Amino acid sequence: MTDWNSRYEIGDTPWEKGRPAPPLLEILERLGTDIWGDGRVLVPGCGTGHDVRALAATGLPPLGLDLAERAVELAKSHEPAGAEDYALGDFLDPAWREGKTFSALWEHTCYCAIHPTCRPDYAQACADLIVPGGCLIGVFFLTPNDPDEENQGPPFNSTIPELDERFAPWFEREHAWIPENAYPGREGKEWIAIYRRK
Ligand SMILES: C[S@@+](CC[C@H](N)C(=O)[O-])C[C@H]1O[C@@H](n2cnc3c(N)ncnc32)[C@H](O)[C@@H]1O
Repeated sequence: MTDWNSRYEIGDTPWEKGRPAPPLLEILERLGTDIWGDGRVLVPGCGTGHDVRALAATGLPPLGLDLAERAVELAKSHEPAGAEDYALGDFLDPAWREGKTFSALWEHTCYCAIHPTCRPDYAQACADLIVPGGCLIGVFFLTPNDPDEENQGPPFNSTIPELDERFAPWFEREHAWIPENAYPGREGKEWIAIYRRK
């Protein structure tokens, strides 16, 4: 089990790139903001919040959620970009999501961070939190590790059929493409998918 908070405390955060995910900026440029709906946008596993602030800068009201206290502290230490907010909590905990709804959810390196045995809980959380007609908008890490090696994560890889099957009980896939923009080293390893809540 990864101790995420300790990793932030000691600075062992190779995923921290100091800027928003290039595929997020690509989605915003290609599809605009309408697809995110007119309510709040949840960013689970937001880390230090670069994606949260990129969303806030467009006028959307995102909530960054992370279970690592230090990550939330670091996120809050940044100059606000708009109407963003941050919360400490566990996305997989049904108690956290009680009474909450969001018009969209942005997934980036949270799905690959949790153990694959918890993926049904991740999908259930998305289904519970996203309103009908809202979107799960994500960039998924298909091949973070050498495919010849055993996939010992995090990050844990995923496949397109696995993702489609995972979300199919509640969502219909509306868009998908390989991002043209990626952090160095992630080129061709990611997949953008937008699933709409039925
Ligand atoms: C690989 S890091 C990515 C952070 C951020 N998305 C980024 O790319 O910089 C995974 C993040 O997910 C958080 N996380 C893992 N499991 C979580 C959970 N169940 N609920 C909320 N956050 C979680 C970790 O604390 C960590 O900040």
